[in-house]
Amino acid sequence: MNVGIDALYAYIPGNYIDVRQLAIARAEGRDPLKILNLVGQKEMAIPFNFEDIVTMSANAVKGMLEHFNTDVSQIERIVMATESSFDFSKAGASYVQELVGLKKETEVYEVKHACASGTYALLDAVNAVRAGEIKSAVVVMSDICRYERGSSAEYTQGAGAVAVLVAKNPRIIAIEPKTGTCSFNVADFYRPAGCETPIVDGKLSIESYINAVQGSFADYAHKIMLNESEILERLDNIIFHTPFPKMAERAYFALCKNLNYANSERHFEKKVKPSLSIPSRVGNVYTASLYLALASALESADREGIAGLFSYGSGCTSKFFTGIVMPYAGNIIRSLGISKQLSARRKLSIEEYERVFYDQDSIDNDYRGFKVKSIKNGYREYGSV
Ligand code: CAA
Repeated sequence: MNVGIDALYAYIPGNYIDVRQLAIARAEGRDPLKILNLVGQKEMAIPFNFEDIVTMSANAVKGMLEHFNTDVSQIERIVMATESSFDFSKAGASYVQELVGLKKETEVYEVKHACASGTYALLDAVNAVRAGEIKSAVVVMSDICRYERGSSAEYTQGAGAVAVLVAKNPRIIAIEPKTGTCSFNVADFYRPAGCETPIVDGKLSIESYINAVQGSFADYAHKIMLNESEILERLDNIIFHTPFPKMAERAYFALCKNLNYANSERHFEKKVKPSLSIPSRVGNVYTASLYLALASALESADREGIAGLFSYGSGCTSKFFTGIVMPYAGNIIRSLGISKQLSARRKLSIEEYERVFYDQDSIDNDYRGFKVKSIKNGYREYGSV
């Protein structure tokens, strides 16, 4: 039985900054091309001070239910994947359940393993639907990626949420049962309780990511008993967790080099590059990053195919899995108009960005959607405009 992603919707905040302008502002005599070439990021989405993981999730889930005219009575689970949680106990998904009007008989929870938790939630939902435990599930991945002002990680921030509906006979992508895994304990990136921003070892994080990609791919090949180069050849799209475009590019070429894969350059343009277009304009969205890259790849899909997906969560864990892209997936994703929405965003100056993102100040807006109304005793009240 085919089970997978039947509907997908992305919510991206309506403000952005030009990463080139940020690099110039922070250059202090250095050549900004240095960092720009290292990350390959063009623009970064910036949320308003009244947006959080719940408002972005609710906007994504509501948008999905409306766009796909979903029968909400069939939804029996909602899971939020995030690494920007503001509560150690209460699940952000509970707020979202109420905001989008899901029934009381819905399983509601939140999951964590850095950027990979959305993938674990997706695979769990696929298995539960396949086993007949639930009819359909919403998995929503939502994050605000925030680093220290002036750090080298500042060019790789971003914000947004992606909601997917997991169901039988999916219209977008059917997830295949075998997955490859690679996990090991490493201090590449973590955010202990009380820290507003993560502790990051940039170089170690890149090295761990590449090792994990190679490990999970080798494990997948072992499980399906095929040669790794044959698998690369067979895939129509290879989609990576994309903290910044050059990370996906480096991981792809490292994987090919390791396998002495001859067609790497030619296949990069066709199989990997389309997935980098939307991420290069949004930035890192942690848990949602792989699924935004999937949407980006599918924007240019015109037929059925096989996609390979790499998910990486710092700390670390990783998964490689595959899916069958459905014949009309490209048309469905294009109907969302994500690239058009990105072009309609408001560009902030670096000074406005610092005020709204770091100092949490208000700026003028014509925002429409869910917003944080107040926080009383740590409990959040939400409303919509
Ligand atoms: N103008 C010119 N040069 C600049 C500059 C500017 N505005 N800002 C920084 N630079 C230079 C630095 O001076 C340095 O130059 P040298 O090599 O000559 O010293 C160079 O740019 C690189 O800076 P760092 O050495 O400080 O950076 P790094 O190599 O430690 O890390 C990075 C770089 C990974 C790209 C950084 O953006 C980062 O830490 N990002 C967050 C972590 C991350 O995304 N890692 C990816 C894998 S982990 C993952 O995927 C999970 C996840 O989602 C986070």
